Amino acid sequence: MLDGSSRTYLIKSSAIRRMLELSTGMENVVHLEQGEPDFTTPSHILDAAVEAMKKGFTHYTEVNGTLELRQVMAEKLEKENGIDADPRTEITVTCGSQEAMFIAALGFLNQGDEALILDPYYPAYFEDILLAEAVPITVSLDEEENYRVNMEALDGKITKKTKMIWMCNPSNPTGHVFSKEDLEIIAEVAKRHNLIVFMDEIYEKLVYDNSTHVSIGSLPGMESRTITVNGFSKAYAMTGWRIGYVVAEKKLSATLRKLHYYATLCPNAISQKAALAALTSPQNCVQEMVKEYDRRRKLMINGLDRIESLSYTMPKGAFYVFPNFSSFEESDEAMALYLLKKAGVVTVPGSGFGKAGEGHLRISYSVSYEQVKEGMKRLKECLESRM
Ligand SMILES: Cc1ncc(COP(=O)(O)O)c(C=O)c1O
Repeated sequence: MLDGSSRTYLIKSSAIRRMLELSTGMENVVHLEQGEPDFTTPSHILDAAVEAMKKGFTHYTEVNGTLELRQVMAEKLEKENGIDADPRTEITVTCGSQEAMFIAALGFLNQGDEALILDPYYPAYFEDILLAEAVPITVSLDEEENYRVNMEALDGKITKKTKMIWMCNPSNPTGHVFSKEDLEIIAEVAKRHNLIVFMDEIYEKLVYDNSTHVSIGSLPGMESRTITVNGFSKAYAMTGWRIGYVVAEKKLSATLRKLHYYATLCPNAISQKAALAALTSPQNCVQEMVKEYDRRRKLMINGLDRIESLSYTMPKGAFYVFPNFSSFEESDEAMALYLLKKAGVVTVPGSGFGKAGEGHLRISYSVSYEQVKEGMKRLKECLESRM
């Protein structure tokens, strides 16, 4: 009687949370497992929220977010992403991008439908697809091929039941930024097989080494079949505000909105005013944070370069490195536990991000420069003592 629904038994807990829980109560630990900016939200955004509260902007808003905010989002999408979206019918403000995944899975997948996921992947995609009682079908990206998209590999997984392709660009966990050519392959496959593409662009602003982020929704013929998701958590250090948005052609949006209403009623009013300030103010705060992430990225890479028998693909986006530790331990799980116990460094086993992540650990440089430095020092000492 008191059991959860059978649906809740389909999903597993996240490897990130598991590692965090294992480290709880341990002293002198370096946390490299979280994908959370250590910066406080920029002060002009805080000010806008305080002002909104003081003026009594504390009520329900329009279900899909204030039109004022959606209009600003539409301008941003046109200018930065090459996506032409009607703010009235094609943009929905969500409680973080996490909500967008949930409503996209429940909104478009029937029991038994198949959804392709580029592997390694952000774990929520897999679990949300399972919750929709659909079947996640992973398409492994080859590290040795620098995570390039392979048309044959994608085509090989398509069946009559395939309905969607899910991915994020830049990638969590690899930090890979997909090229326009990669996205053109995805687009071609999606168009050929009449699929919806779920594209999570939450890390779009966190790119380095002159890499450019391209939105798949801007490619010819893709606007009508792409669900573009974005948010404020990463670029503006706003994880706790729970605010994001989903962009899709009118008919797709209407489906998403049905679920959005019953799940949330509306997004947080105060966070919407904060998001508005984030988009309409000068973007130096983002540039400064990106500059600092880049400094930490270089420090982390430099640290990894000093450890023998360890390889990694140069990350060009997000704030993760995904090195291959398979020469040290039998499994990534064992490796993560070993590093936690012996070095007091918390990482995430790569298998938590899919089969293609096996043998890897995700390490994050969203923590301070000093913490990255200390973490890399401990990793080196710990691994060298095993050789
Ligand atoms: C790829 C990706 N998408 C979405 C999210 C969640 O974003 P939000 O805070 O907007 O729900 C995360 C958080 O780590 C993420 O890595």
